[in-house]
Order: sequence, then C-alpha cells, then structure tokens
Amino acid sequence: MKYGHFDDLKREYVIDNYRTPLPWINYLGSDSFFTLLSNTAGGYSFYKDARLRRITRYRYNNLPLDQDGFHIYVKDNDIIWNPGWQPVQEELDEYQCRHGLGYSVINGKKNKLSVKQELYVPMNDNILLDRVTVTNEGNEDKTVDLFSFVEFCLWDAMDDSSNFQRNYSTGEVEVVGSAIYHKTEYRERRNHYAVFYANRPVDSFDTSRDSFMGVYGSPRQPQAVVNGSCGNSIAHGWQPVGAHHFHLELKPQETFSVIIGLGYVEVPVAEKFVAPGVINKKYAEDLMNRYSSDEQFDEGMNRLRRFWDELLSRFEVRTDNDVVNRMVNIWNAYQCMVTFNMSRSASYYESGIGRGMGFRDSCQDLLGFVHMIPERARERILDIAATQKEDGGAYHQYQPLTKKGNSDIGGGFNDDPLWLIACTDAYIRETGDWDILNEMVDFDNNPEVAAPLLEHLRRSFNYTLNNLGPNKLPLIGRADWNDCLNLNCFSEHPGESFQITGPSEGPVAESVFIAGMFVKYGRDYASILKHLGINDEAEKATEAVERMAETVLDKGWDGQWFLRAYDAFGQKIGSDECDEGKIFIEPQGMCIMAGIGVETGEAQKALDSVKERLDTKYGIVLLNPAYTTYRLNLGEISSYPPGYKENAGIFCHNNPWIIFAETIMGHGDRAFELYKKTCPAFLEDISEIHRTEPYAYCQMVAGKDAPTFGEGKNSWLTGTAAWTFTVLTEGMLGIKPDYDGLTVDPCIPHDVREYKINRMFRNTMYHITVKNPDGVEKGVKSIRVNGTEVPAGAIRANGASEIEVEVIMG
Ligand code: BGC
Ligand code: NOJ
Repeated sequence: MKYGHFDDLKREYVIDNYRTPLPWINYLGSDSFFTLLSNTAGGYSFYKDARLRRITRYRYNNLPLDQDGFHIYVKDNDIIWNPGWQPVQEELDEYQCRHGLGYSVINGKKNKLSVKQELYVPMNDNILLDRVTVTNEGNEDKTVDLFSFVEFCLWDAMDDSSNFQRNYSTGEVEVVGSAIYHKTEYRERRNHYAVFYANRPVDSFDTSRDSFMGVYGSPRQPQAVVNGSCGNSIAHGWQPVGAHHFHLELKPQETFSVIIGLGYVEVPVAEKFVAPGVINKKYAEDLMNRYSSDEQFDEGMNRLRRFWDELLSRFEVRTDNDVVNRMVNIWNAYQCMVTFNMSRSASYYESGIGRGMGFRDSCQDLLGFVHMIPERARERILDIAATQKEDGGAYHQYQPLTKKGNSDIGGGFNDDPLWLIACTDAYIRETGDWDILNEMVDFDNNPEVAAPLLEHLRRSFNYTLNNLGPNKLPLIGRADWNDCLNLNCFSEHPGESFQITGPSEGPVAESVFIAGMFVKYGRDYASILKHLGINDEAEKATEAVERMAETVLDKGWDGQWFLRAYDAFGQKIGSDECDEGKIFIEPQGMCIMAGIGVETGEAQKALDSVKERLDTKYGIVLLNPAYTTYRLNLGEISSYPPGYKENAGIFCHNNPWIIFAETIMGHGDRAFELYKKTCPAFLEDISEIHRTEPYAYCQMVAGKDAPTFGEGKNSWLTGTAAWTFTVLTEGMLGIKPDYDGLTVDPCIPHDVREYKINRMFRNTMYHITVKNPDGVEKGVKSIRVNGTEVPAGAIRANGASEIEVEVIMG
C-alpha cells in the first residue's frame, strides 16, 4: 500500500494520507541550524549540536506519537484542527505534505478553509521559516482564529529531560510586539537566545505553557485555542513556549498570510545586555528583517533550490528505470547530505543526545558526498584525523561542537583507523588534491604532536600490523564494524554498556573482517605511497597486504565461506562448526571487495553461500542461523531477539558490499536484483510492511526470523546511504574516480541497452553514454572521447570544461 507518490520533476515526495505507518520526516537546514520535520509538522530544531543546543523540545517515544513540533492550530467556530492533522487529529477534507530538498509544504483543508505551511531553513541563516497561508475557499465570510505554537527546550536536551528540580526555575522570556525571546540561562553563562516571531501584529500571545495549554491541558485541546485567545502570559520558570494568535475575518476567496520564524541568535559577550536584565536584540532584529516580506521568503527559497540544483547536477543518470533515476539523482544523494550534516546524531530513532560523530561512520559517509562537496569533505577528513591517537588508534566518536575525541567511549574499535585511509583515498581520487597529505594534523587534538596527514594514514595502516593475534589476523579490540560483536566484553550485568565494558584489548580475539579491510584499503595506501614516489615503503606495504590476503585464505576461510572471527578463546565464529551464527555477511563482502579469492574460486563459493543461507526477499540477513540465546563470549549481538539488528536483521549497510562483490564477479543481473531488495523506492508499494519512508534508506529491516519480517527501522542516519550510492554509481553504473581520471567499467543487468550520465569531475562535465548492444553484464569493448577512440583506463579531460564519452560494452 502507498501513502503518497514521487514527484520527480519537483524532486518531492508527496504524502496524501496523513496516517503514514510511522512519521515520515524531512531534514531542513544545510549548515548550522537544523530542523527535523514530519509529514504532520512534528519535529524539533537545534543549532549545530542536537544535544547541547536544542531549541525546541521533542518527546521521543511519546504517546500519542509525534505531538511536539511546529503545529498551527485553526479554530473555525467550534472545530479545532491542524493543517498537518496532528496533534488534534481532526479529520481533514484534504491533506497533502510535500517533502522536498530542504523544505516541506503541508496543506490541509477543512470546511472550505485551506491552511498551508511552507517550511524551510534558508542558506547561511539560523532560522526556521514557516509561511502560513490561509484561504477562504468558500462563498461565505469566515471568522477564524489561527495559532502558532512551539515549546522551547532549555538548551541541553539531556538536562532538559531529566534535571527538573533546576529546570522548573530557570525559564525566562522577553516579548516585544510579535517577537518572543527565549532567554533561559542568558543571564549567566550563555550568550545565545532563540526568537519566535511573526511578520504581522498578533492579537494575543503566550509564553507560558500552562497558560496556552492549561495545567492539565493537552496539545490536542489547548486551552487558549478553545478560548479563542491567548493569555499574554510571561513565563517565569516552568515551561517557556511561544504562541502567536491571529484573529481573521476572511471574505470569500480572501487570503491571509504570515511569516513565522524561529531563530537562533548569538551575541558577543561584551554586548549581551542593553539595560540590566534586558537582552541585546539587535542581531535578532537583523535576522528578522532579512525574512519579513514574501519577496525575501521566496528569494530564500530560490537560493535553496539553486543550491540543490548545483549539488545534484554533479551526478545525474538517465536509465530507462525511473526508480533508479530518482534514487540516484535525488533521494539517495539527498540522504548522503543528511548523513554529512547529522552523522548519527538526530533522527526519529537517534535522540540527538546519545552519540557524537562516529569515526568510522563519518569516514564512510564521506564516500557518498565527496563528489558533491569536496571542500567540506576535506575539512571533515582533517577534523576526523585530528582525533586520531598517536598509536594510530582512534576515538570511536567525537563531539561536533568541540571536535574533540570523546573519552567516555574511548577507542579500541580496531577497524576505525582503516576507514581513515578509505575516505582519504576516496577524496584524493575525487579531487586530485594530493596536498591534503601534507596538511599538519594534530594527534588527539594536541597541536604539539601534529604531523602531516600522510603520517596519520601510515599510523592507521601500522595500527593493524601492530595489533595482530595468534593467527596473524588483526585483533578485534572492542569490536570492528559490527559494534555488537563484543568478543572481549563478557558482560553479565544489565545496564553495562557493551561498548565499554571489559578490557578494550584482548590478545586473542581476531577479526577476518578487519583483515579484509586491511587488504582492501592497504592496497589503496600502497598506491598512494607509490604515487608519491615513496617506493620502498609502498613495496613493504604491498608485501604486508599480500601476506594478510594469504592469511585470510589460510586461517580465515571456512571451506564454503569466509570465517567471521576468532573469539577470546581462539574458537571460530561464523563457521560451519558453530551451532548458530555459522555464516556472517561482513567478511564475505569485505574480503571479496578486497579481491581475496576472486582468482582462486573462494569468492564465488562465498557468494553462493550468501545466496543459499543469507538471502531473503527483503535483502541479505547479517548472519544465519540467528543466535537464540545470550552468549557471554559474543556480547550485544546475541542480546537481540532473532531477526533484529545485528542478530540476523537485514542490516542494509552491508548489503551493498555483497552487491559490490557481485559486480566484481561480473554479475550485473544479480547485483541489480539485490539492489532492488533494500532500495526504499522499490518498496513504496509495500509501505504498510516496510513502514519507514519510501525515499530514505533505513539502517535495518527485520530479518526472516523476526515476526515482523520486512519491517524497516532507524531510517535516515545510516552508512547505507553512502554505500548504496557508491555501489550503484561505481559498482553498477561503473563510473569511478581514479587518481588520473574517471574510469568507466559498468556491471549491469544484461537487458539494459543504454544509459546516460552527466558526471562533474574536477571541473569537467563528463557526458557519458554507455551502450550495451550485445546484452552483456560486464566488459568494455571500446571508449570514445569526443568521437576519438581512447585506450582502456582512466579517461582524462585535459582541462576541457565538458567532454563527450561513449562506452561500448561487449
Ligand atoms: C546498535 C549498533 C550501534 C551501537 C552504537 C548498538 O546498540 O545495535 O547498531 O552501532 O549500538 O552504540
Ligand atoms: C551502527 C553504527 O553507527 C555503525 O558504526 C556500526 O558499524 C553498525 N551500527 C553496525 O554495528
């Protein structure tokens, strides 16, 4: 069942049934000020850091669901309703929510009254704008009352939801005309406040929640709305809110519109007050003046559209499959940008409180956005690298506001350092910016021990070599990519974090997955050295890589597939010998991507085993059989009921690794078959089963062992976005940046005869046509550039602003 449809021309998803299986959200904001917004106008805003600078409150896991947000209330005689249906849930005559790139438009109609909310966060300004347009579509005069409402968060979202004995006594506001200033804690150490304003005079307002809602009131029936007027309250302590009221008399076909803004403002410390206790509003006034007219609102929207036009024009494909086109050209790229902005901090499943920026997460996300925003990717790499420890290990997370490694969680996740090589290599291939390797970058954010970025890569590489176990495979530490395979944890007490319990280092437990990574990204590291002319070291690195590849085939091969690991007792994990968890997805994907066993047959065997044991109609499960009991030697993975999360869920993130592996083996049909299984736009018709947004990947889909097989969870913030984008564009469509140019080596379904791509690469627009006259799945017969045949390999543009490339498969 569908709840809406894609509008590809407008690049929007249009929801016309407000009872979506879960709130379907959008992300507004592209720099510092962000808003999560659901299809019924639920959500919240924050500045940079969803924990430390939360601007509005959001109650996760609340009942009824998704009641906090940016709602507009309409009182039309005795009927109270919202254009987005929530929170009142009064049935609407018509409803539509259009989620676009960085903006959403929600339009509800009832009793011949249309109320439209157009919301976006303009580029380079810290403000959420909401233009509300009310139209009397009937033939009679209408008298209605319109209310806006937001509930402020007292900045630190964690504190705000726990430290009530203090919080209930700190809230402060000021009101000037239609501008409500939320200034809690500004009197002491903060030099920032929020402002909630309207570009028209209000008839009344409220800033105290009790006054607007009533002490025992509810968002479904606010006291002020029922009364038809706010109480002009000034909040002292308790819960500061912002509410505007407009009393409207509308003639038939008459329209009223108001721009409502929620801004975040910082004031230089020396200028904080203009009089004792009175905040300096100059910066807020400047901000409000920039968005006080419809022309300014529209111009801001146009700037946003131009921004997205530019970003998305860097990679555009035209195949005969609309679903593929819309994912690659619009939604998958969009989600990559969202992961760039959010990492894993704030979604409807990530509370914005728990996690900072993940080291491995950020490195992998970069693979999906580096072609769109290379300069910011560069900055990101340097930020990440600066948190690396001197021994080459990594903090598992860092905080976006401070950019410092997070010592609460610490390090010891032994795959982390290698991801730094992965993203730096991807960045260099994309940009040709070899200079980045000379940038001086701190270790552990300490400038005294700064070293060139190349040295960071060297230490990443050596970190694996310095931490080998009894089988000469890499030690796993706290965990590798699979955060839940905790082989050194041995946690027996509820509440202990699997991530930090037990010694971070065990001398025995080893990971075949990291071994695969070492081979894959170690090869990239060696190529970088070679390119720099550091030949001796390049050779040594290559030797170490080849040794590891042999070790994998020797100690990491189980007969029909790659082993997953050795536990702290040296016992095999992910082996036919095991009673459960006989085969895992991760080493199959990573080892084959590294090229291990491709020539000698193991890779094909492993893929056959994946198909036989892990494949389902909704994607490839992470392992099989699922663990049915908790196992001390394995940790969190066995804490989940079978079929969920890392315990045999369909973890979308590593499905693309298998797809990549299939493309390496030349299986275009199979690759596409797998691609479709987890691709949300291909699941639109079964939204009642899949439940999450049809335009965004989710982290996991319940596996075949779960009663809810096929149900998606944790949409938006997942490495799936970057990896599916990469596997489709590089693995299948075959467009891959290389050090000296762009290579084209497609692996596609045999019945695809032709497709076209526009790909911006280092200031050249490559217009590529791929033709497949013989119906093959892989193989390139000839390449022509501007009509002239060129040898196989990287296609150079020699400074041209555009080139035409024709690739004939066969
Ligand atoms: C989840 C993992 C996640 C980890 C991060 C675990 O509970 O299952 O997917 O990476 O938490 O803290
Ligand atoms: C989610 C985490 O963000 C990611 O870092 C990890 O690799 C996967 N879960 C698998 O555990």
